[in-house]
Amino acid sequence: MNIIDIITKKKNNEELNYEELSYAFNGYLKKEIPDYQMSSLLMAIVINGMHLKETIRLTDIFLKSGDQYNLKELMDNVVDKHSTGGVGDTTTLILGPMCASLGLKMAKMSGRGLGITGGTIDKLESIPGFRVNLNKEELINQVKVIGFANCAQSDNLTPLDKVIYALRDVTGTTESIPLIASSIMSKKIALGAKDILIDVKYGSGALMKTKEDAEELSNYLKKIGAYYETNVETIIDNMSNPLSQAIGNAIEVIEAINVLRGKKCKLRDTCIEITAKLLELSENLSENEATKLATNSLDSGKALNKFMEFVSYQGGKIEEVYLSDKRIEVKAKHDGVIKNVDALGAAKLAAKLGASKMTLDDTIDYSVGIYLKKVKGDKVQKDESLMTLYVNDYNIQLNNEDFEFIEY
Ligand code: URA
Ligand code: CA
Repeated sequence: MNIIDIITKKKNNEELNYEELSYAFNGYLKKEIPDYQMSSLLMAIVINGMHLKETIRLTDIFLKSGDQYNLKELMDNVVDKHSTGGVGDTTTLILGPMCASLGLKMAKMSGRGLGITGGTIDKLESIPGFRVNLNKEELINQVKVIGFANCAQSDNLTPLDKVIYALRDVTGTTESIPLIASSIMSKKIALGAKDILIDVKYGSGALMKTKEDAEELSNYLKKIGAYYETNVETIIDNMSNPLSQAIGNAIEVIEAINVLRGKKCKLRDTCIEITAKLLELSENLSENEATKLATNSLDSGKALNKFMEFVSYQGGKIEEVYLSDKRIEVKAKHDGVIKNVDALGAAKLAAKLGASKMTLDDTIDYSVGIYLKKVKGDKVQKDESLMTLYVNDYNIQLNNEDFEFIEY
């Protein structure tokens, strides 16, 4: 076998068998295949796609490159959730505790921000003392005892995905349904939940730009799950507008607490929907019963108590979360109705304030961010505040373009 024949086959839109895929991908992990040949193969896959069968083969190769946790064999009711990325997406910090307060078990591994999108791990690190690195034993023990743990991706979980993901990020080969599906599913199967809910986003702030692509990705995810006897359900959700009013790190943790304390908003509705779906799957409940239980976990304060337990279990001191006291109110220039809040534009402004990394060596300022006071559909009057900016420097240069993401 040789790598050029394998690249050529994919270039000619032929199917690759397990041995060929393993030769190329495991060869890359062992550094026997150089970056340029793997980049070329990835680009051929992006352009010509892969059938479901090939995608399952690739998922299996990713999966077997590292450790497997087999959580569903260690305890009952293990669920997992994943979102394909969003802006203001703080759902994990709310629905993890909701699920745990209802008897489900969730061992969630999260990522850091990629590009300008926020990552749950960065948000958790805005809590002083919070430990994001848990080893296998710590993770399993915590989930057994309190029902929810949230940590960074372990180094030995799908190491092949890690190197391929990094290469895709810099070679224009991210947007491929089979590559995304195998990347996500290998990590999910490696942890081994029984039921998995994946929130597939599409729109300006998301990896999938159209609903049709989101549906196709969803189909691949479910079928790969079925191959591993794992129940995968999906929610397909538009991500043109930020999911919540808060964009940043500490500010998103605070918004999560607001929802856990009973705030009514889209973020709450999304968390109830996902938690209810997981309950339906895991406990065989009707949608109606599941929705009632999920809602009650918020309204009764049980999910809030579980959140506090989870944070202190991982060493976090929630009372020390700090939001900058330097604030700028951005005022409306005229009366109107909010037509759109573009997620990508909002994320770019948050990044400019210092909420995410622009280059690899950047540091994140956890205390900065945006709080949107007006969301799509709201009325606004001239001079009313559209949003509050939490900044670390009043001299930050902001211009009109920075606010074009909000249309009214
Ligand atoms: N999330 C992943 O884990 N992998 C992808 O390829 C895209 C999104
Ligand atoms: Ca249902």
